[in-house]
Amino acid sequence: MDTITLTRPDDWHLHLRDGEALRAVVGASAAQFARAIVMPNLRPPVATVAQALAYRQRILEALPAGAAFEPLMTLYLTDNTPADEIRRALDSGGVHAVKLYPAGATTNSDAGVTDLRRTWPVLEAMQACGMPLLVHGEVTDPAVDVFDREAVFIERVLEPLRRDFPALRVVFEHITTRQAAQYVTQAQGPIAATITAHHLLYNRNALFTGGLRPHWYCLPVLKREEHRRALLQAAISGDPRFFLGTDSAPHAARLKEHAAACAGCYTAPHAIELYAAAFEQAGALGRLEAFASFNGPDFYRLPRNTARIVLRRERWTVPESLPFGAEHIVPLAGGETLAWKLADRAS
Ligand code: NCD
Ligand code: ZN
Repeated sequence: MDTITLTRPDDWHLHLRDGEALRAVVGASAAQFARAIVMPNLRPPVATVAQALAYRQRILEALPAGAAFEPLMTLYLTDNTPADEIRRALDSGGVHAVKLYPAGATTNSDAGVTDLRRTWPVLEAMQACGMPLLVHGEVTDPAVDVFDREAVFIERVLEPLRRDFPALRVVFEHITTRQAAQYVTQAQGPIAATITAHHLLYNRNALFTGGLRPHWYCLPVLKREEHRRALLQAAISGDPRFFLGTDSAPHAARLKEHAAACAGCYTAPHAIELYAAAFEQAGALGRLEAFASFNGPDFYRLPRNTARIVLRRERWTVPESLPFGAEHIVPLAGGETLAWKLADRAS
């Protein structure tokens, strides 16, 4: 088999940044995906519908000429988000979800939620209208080992939250552990999870192979091999609760190759090829289309795409560096060879 034809996929978790950085990266996502759920962790965060719609406009203006790409906007939940923002979000037609960052959990999350009880009126409004809550599932308690923060989040935050709001539609974002995959598989009610390509392809050894490698550093951090295997099993299982979300999170190389390296892997330019590598490794290329193109829109209650893409079996090398405004950026797996190539890829 030398080609794979897929319904055009979408990216259900993406960081596009703003300004010069946005202009540098948005074309890469548009070349791969029809739509993307765009994360709101700008500075200041995208906390209101007005801000989200203005950001959406900047994304559309930053697209290369002729690119067809639909940004699906999200709101950044804070302790002070008013419940009627949810009504405005619904009415806008452009805002599709609300993102919960526990304060301090990751890049630009200082404005995140400090006490979930303060957001109850918002969660009630979301539960009532079916708007998904996207959760960054890690506790921030410094006493909890960084590799355990996702598993502890399930017990301390997610289970109580879903007991209090059993009909709330939840996406457990970028899951990284066996516990999270198991939780989603076995849970009652409306919950799904996104899985990144890098968590399907790498375990935490990748961070330390031949030296400390900051381009493999993201949050939640890569875990042990047993967790990677559990994620891969979930992704290829055919369970519609699991779908593609790259968490492509661009940072200039200068800030990655730094004493306090920023968290985030830049995978947008070669995302579908990375996922194809993971699915092929598991002998499950036939399951890629549902994961990449069907399960996400079904959960978000949006139509599936009708256009198709073609991947060809062709060895090519991921660029080691790409322009990033006045800086440069190192894509994940830069310099490595991939076996599948998107047919209309320019280089
Ligand atoms: C993201 C970023 O840089 O915005 N970083 C990351 O490692 N994934 C934030 C996030 O999604 O946690
Ligand atoms: Zn993210």
